[in-house]
Amino acid sequence: MHSNSGPSPVTDKTILLIIGGGIAAYKCLDLIRRLRERKIRTRVVMTAAAQRFITPLSAGAISGERVLTDLFNLDDEREIGHIRLSREADLIVVAPATADLIAKMAGGHADDLATAVLLATDKPVLIAPAMNPRMWLHPATRRNVAMLQADGIAIIGPNSGEMAERGEAGPGRMAEPLEIAARIEAMLANPTLDPAATAPTPRGSLSGRHVLVTAGPTHEPIDPVRYIANRSSGRQGYAIAAAAAQLGARVTLVSGPVELADPAGVKVVRVQTAAEMLAAVDIALPADAAVFAAAVADWRVADAATEKIKKGKGGTPSLSLIENPDILKTVARRAEIRPALVVGFAAETERVLEHARAKRKSKGCDWIVANDVSPQTGIMGGTRNTVHVITADGVESWPEMAKDAVAEKLVARIAEHLVLGQADV
Ligand SMILES: Cc1cc2nc3c(=O)[nH]c(=O)nc-3n(C[C@H](O)[C@H](O)[C@H](O)COP(=O)(O)O)c2cc1C
Repeated sequence: MHSNSGPSPVTDKTILLIIGGGIAAYKCLDLIRRLRERKIRTRVVMTAAAQRFITPLSAGAISGERVLTDLFNLDDEREIGHIRLSREADLIVVAPATADLIAKMAGGHADDLATAVLLATDKPVLIAPAMNPRMWLHPATRRNVAMLQADGIAIIGPNSGEMAERGEAGPGRMAEPLEIAARIEAMLANPTLDPAATAPTPRGSLSGRHVLVTAGPTHEPIDPVRYIANRSSGRQGYAIAAAAAQLGARVTLVSGPVELADPAGVKVVRVQTAAEMLAAVDIALPADAAVFAAAVADWRVADAATEKIKKGKGGTPSLSLIENPDILKTVARRAEIRPALVVGFAAETERVLEHARAKRKSKGCDWIVANDVSPQTGIMGGTRNTVHVITADGVESWPEMAKDAVAEKLVARIAEHLVLGQADV
């Protein structure tokens, strides 16, 4: 990495920075400055839209190079040409990568200098997406990003947080100039490495992935006003969904009835019963990883009454229960669209590890996150958790932590597993 002592391994490398037309274009001026500090030569191409946000004059003044903007400019073409531009760069960086540029790259368009260079190059390409969260989460953008990843293009960010538009928050903020500069240094220093291997983990490492999470209890009706429930608050599952979105995943959260706000940047599907939860999970699949944190009722009332059951009529009613579908087992054993990683939760009140190990085998899932929910622990409904993560290779016991911290640690492990293909936590 960059240091002030001794020459950097990336000195005298050239990058071609393509600036797209988004509000984050202004951050590229800082990025160019950071790259100059690192002695990385930066040639700049700006799209027509980018020039509505910042001027070629300011980008040129900071980079110390003439900024190129026009595919059909005779002088530019004679002097450097779009093919030479891409040939002479060690790395091409697109920042901000707008939804439009990402779509054009995925489609192989070449109708301006930026896209023509991108299509003509055989050099590594890094994109730093920046857009409104709804644009980022739109199925078209998800599809395009997945195509670029399959083509070997490296992606940094976007990060989650406040957007430039007032009142907007979620995934879509361009990675910070220092983060991008660090990634550029890593890619220049190790040009043969797989793009994912130079990704600063964990941030951004789930972009392009779909993570499915279930959370909360289910309510199984007895009659229109009464139901069987449990004490699950949904907090752990919501925290996992939020952490996965923070890492750039597209997240679907299937939630039983809880009193929690929707996490930013997460698609929330609200259900009541176990049967509805399974149906919503089925609709949400396929997913790269599925985390089943919901406390699904094991049983439901066989014949829920359609009218309120009246007191005194026919004495005390007795409830006949039947088993609910086992969502974790159903998905974990599904051959066609089984997520690459299936994680179950085991809430136990005694012999936690023994029961959790047995559950991992019987359900066919990859990992079980086990916790002791006996009343004295205060875990059910509380904000802290003590978990054991059980995999094929053994048990890892984590110290007591806030549920948010458990979520971050678990999601980082999931990202590692998906990105690096590691077999274990
Ligand atoms: C004020 C304003 C801000 C915009 N910000 C973004 C943005 O952050 N990300 C994005 O993908 N598009 C953004 N757009 C839309 C793009 O400018 C538009 O799609 C344009 O065609 C992109 O051109 P380019 O990809 O060739 O640079 C914005 C438009 C306006 C008017």
